[in-house]
Amino acid sequence: MADIKLIINGKDCVAPKGSTILQAAELNGIHIPKLCYLEGINKYGACRICLVEQMLPPAKNLQASCMVEAQEGMIIETNTQRVRDARRTMYELLLSNHAQDCLACVRNQDCEFQALGRELGITQCHYEGERAEYPIDVSESITRNPNKCILCRRCISVCKNIQTTAVLGAEDRGFRTHISPAFGLPIGASSCAFCGQCVEVCPVGALTET
Ligand code: FES
Repeated sequence: MADIKLIINGKDCVAPKGSTILQAAELNGIHIPKLCYLEGINKYGACRICLVEQMLPPAKNLQASCMVEAQEGMIIETNTQRVRDARRTMYELLLSNHAQDCLACVRNQDCEFQALGRELGITQCHYEGERAEYPIDVSESITRNPNKCILCRRCISVCKNIQTTAVLGAEDRGFRTHISPAFGLPIGASSCAFCGQCVEVCPVGALTET
């Protein structure tokens, strides 16, 4: 496949045609913070953490670098004040509706969301408001805590595209297991195979082993 040339942060970059701006940057050793994107699994543009500024051709709005295809002659800036401010705002908005019990969370110190907060220099959340409260869904293998979910959709993508089970959906993510009254054993009302792929890709503590 032919290559294209573009400039990222003043550096001459080369990437295969069809690459996204994010892929082009990573191929050329330039780091762009990201959260929902997972190479080969989830490309949905949900979190907007990977925002960059497109100087040429000029774009009024910041671009989600994981979604926008890199073009010949593009000039991209990944770390301007405008970009950093927007990233922090997106992060804080996600944090504002996230159960902030990190010290008691099983993913503490092994959490992509937490690590990203450190990288972005988040020390407080400016958006305090009503927080959604959902019941915790416990199956015999997987525990789902929607109060920690940041709606990245990685679990949905891996379930549908890799495991091809499609048990998890945007509006229907319960395992719906219950205890059999006759045998006292858990019964799955969904076709979840409890493969654990969703737990593996979850960037927070929303999906964990029971
Ligand atoms: Fe690009 Fe989430 S990583 S929108």
